[in-house]
Amino acid sequence: MGENPLTLLFRRYAGRKKTAMSENKKNPIDYNAAIDVRARGQSSYRIFPSDSFDDLSRCMEELGSKDLRVCVVTDSNVEKLYLDDVKNVLEGSCARLTSFTIPAGEQHKTLDEIRRLYTHLIGQEFDRRDLLVALGGGVTGDMTGFAAATYLRGIRFVQIPTTLLSQVDSSIGGKTGVDFDSYKNMVGAFHQPSMVYLNVNTLQTLDETQFASGMGEVLKHGLIRDASYYEWCLDHMGEIEERQPDLLKEMVVRSILIKRAIVQKDPLEKGERALLNFGHTVGHAIEKLMDFRLAHGACVNLGIIAASYISWKRGNIPEEIFYEIRDMSVAFGLPISYDSLRVDEILETMKKDKKRIGETTRMILLKRLGSSYIDETVTDDEIRSALQFLRYEG
Ligand code: GLY
Repeated sequence: MGENPLTLLFRRYAGRKKTAMSENKKNPIDYNAAIDVRARGQSSYRIFPSDSFDDLSRCMEELGSKDLRVCVVTDSNVEKLYLDDVKNVLEGSCARLTSFTIPAGEQHKTLDEIRRLYTHLIGQEFDRRDLLVALGGGVTGDMTGFAAATYLRGIRFVQIPTTLLSQVDSSIGGKTGVDFDSYKNMVGAFHQPSMVYLNVNTLQTLDETQFASGMGEVLKHGLIRDASYYEWCLDHMGEIEERQPDLLKEMVVRSILIKRAIVQKDPLEKGERALLNFGHTVGHAIEKLMDFRLAHGACVNLGIIAASYISWKRGNIPEEIFYEIRDMSVAFGLPISYDSLRVDEILETMKKDKKRIGETTRMILLKRLGSSYIDETVTDDEIRSALQFLRYEG
């Protein structure tokens, strides 16, 4: 395997026969249609895919915003890009509009910032009927959702995700929370949004690192659930990297449909939803050790390669599929190796993770391409060899 991954990648890419996504021909997907999320025991909501903020006021008014106070929560990066646009759209659609800015970055995903937000809401006299709006990426969405879950024992909130990661993953399914003492998402609650409004054009302003980070979660959805979606992403890597608007919308909506199918069946992660944690056991440990300097999706991708390596060594997937998973990450700007960490420190950090069960580690493995399962028998030796592979050969 001495060949440069990029050479391999381009050779395979050039020779690929494009695959059609497995779609129901009688009921083709309308990529502009609202998507309903209905999970048993949870409040249901709609996801509106869009190319602008033009329909936002109509969607908010459907939630009764005209008579309510609305607070748009954003971060210091997204504030500069989209806060004015969103406020202009919402100005006539609510009784009082206010905004609150969190400093950008995972290091601010803390209870201290939530406390500042509570103070703002109390100062603005927000009551039980009023609404929060999360405008931004995963950190903003998780924090706003957590404030909404806890303020006055729970108020409603709306997600307006502006990153690829938050559009395909974190804005859907009601996981909210903050980090605590560098433990990611250690304090949180399940609290479903009342609506998700996504303007796919916001993906055009993402830097390469953020876009790649979202691609980590996109590829994850294909790998765990839908081989044809994964293959489609590989076949369209050129157009995806160019961020062709229609293609991005198709990619985002397909990804959302995969996530919706999982969270509808298992909203509170009692079982199957854990499949969405593919790549996260190793990924979270790397993310923590890197002090959150490496983007979440990039860390998850390293975890995906590690879990795929174990899946290959257990005979679940063939060698060439494993190497394809590794090599294709390069095309999407995702890392395939790390060099500044030691294998043992990653393993030690994983052992402190919430997903540890006794002496073995709970990991999501591939059964085959597009199908995954929860495994509670992965040994330290298996993880060590995967981490060693990533360090020395990845
Ligand atoms: N991001 C994983 C989940 O929503 O369960």
